[in-house]
Amino acid sequence: MISKNRSALRGCYVTFRDNPFRVPAQSALVVEEDGLILMENGRITQCGPYAELAHLLQDDIPVTHYPNCIISAGLIDAHVHYPQLSAIASWGQQLLPWLEEYIFPTEARFADPAVARAAARIFMTELLRNGTTTAAVYCTVHRQSVDAFFEESQRVGTRMIAGKVLMDRNAPANLRDTAAQGYDDSLNLIRRWHGKGRQLYAVTPRFAITSTQEQLEQAGALLDQFPDVFMQTHLSENTDEIAEVARLFPDCTSYLDVYDKAGLVRRRSVFGHGIHLDEEALHRCHAAGSTLAHCPTSNLFLGSGFFPLAATQSPDRPVHVALATDIGAGTTLSMLGTMAEAYKVSLAAGKERLHPAQAFWLATAGAAQALDLEDRIGTIAPGMEADLCVLDPYATPLLAYRTARCDSIEAQLFPLMILGDDRCIRATWVAGHEVHRNHSLPISRDSLDGQ
Ligand code: GUN
Ligand code: ZN
Repeated sequence: MISKNRSALRGCYVTFRDNPFRVPAQSALVVEEDGLILMENGRITQCGPYAELAHLLQDDIPVTHYPNCIISAGLIDAHVHYPQLSAIASWGQQLLPWLEEYIFPTEARFADPAVARAAARIFMTELLRNGTTTAAVYCTVHRQSVDAFFEESQRVGTRMIAGKVLMDRNAPANLRDTAAQGYDDSLNLIRRWHGKGRQLYAVTPRFAITSTQEQLEQAGALLDQFPDVFMQTHLSENTDEIAEVARLFPDCTSYLDVYDKAGLVRRRSVFGHGIHLDEEALHRCHAAGSTLAHCPTSNLFLGSGFFPLAATQSPDRPVHVALATDIGAGTTLSMLGTMAEAYKVSLAAGKERLHPAQAFWLATAGAAQALDLEDRIGTIAPGMEADLCVLDPYATPLLAYRTARCDSIEAQLFPLMILGDDRCIRATWVAGHEVHRNHSLPISRDSLDGQ
């Protein structure tokens, strides 16, 4: 009998047994130099040294071998706007005028379901080309934009978090809902999509400027009703934005307090940015188990500031942090490129050296923990969903030249994240199926001998 739902990958793999912000990186990271990952019905059933597990391979289990590559859990992007992909690289503005000039007109096009469907397909293809298998995704104010995205995710079989943007003020009329309409649409979408296959819903008020107090409270009421639904919004990204929030909510003690008063600061809450938070807000995020999505390429592109990663990890009140691209303000969908910018920002912001194991943690196991999904995604271990990406540290001539000088797999991770991008994703697997393969020929390691 052909076991069509069983397959295996052979190659070096890396994963985590602990948090490299809490224990030394060497003890947090697991490196299996010649590993075997057995998969069945979308999950990993066994993994470990090839020499120990090879006897489990029956003749009918196809084995894909990736010599000279590094297999990782699929990458996770904790904050991204799929409708903004076509507005990436729009010139010359900081956050608020950038939204007005480029983003609102782009999102208005999603009133047309055909636009949304085409965009969802392009976005998904790009995610997979970049090794990203889970993302927390903003759609637009239009409910069809959510259907289009989840239909695409359902087709591919990815685990995705997404939601309809709520916006009942301070936006163009064609992009506004009302508190009541936003509530009803979200409720229907939760019923339609949350927990369907691998899809998960996030109640998504855009940010405090574009929602009335009433709308934020309605969002909180939805979360009371569906406690395992996610919440995502923007927080404390830009100084003009922060001033405007203070003006609109004079009774609140801080930007985070606006969300807290509405019941939006919770375990499955994901706040984009959080660059300019004070100690009290960081304490509150820690206590609630909320997540800050660190979006370095976006923060640099919009001139928003430097995320204080080291400060968020203070041992007395560590806050969950996950890396994110924040397309269209972000400038790449590559989580490798995003790790590179996070490294530079950490050094610039606090003279802190982000270890490559920490960077990979923030895009895999740490992100999964932040999103309360660590029992399903983010690590390579028996029982986990079989989402994997295959990284090629020899993918480009320069990276291959640099990698050839590394004396261990651990040492390859840093140049890979600094120089790497979509070209380094040899393949992406979702729920045990290959969904992307890079067809360019690998660079021969022999040609590098002696260099
Ligand atoms: N704040 C409110 N909306 C947005 C958005 O679309 N992108 C970013 N970067 N910040 C926001
Ligand atoms: Zn954003």
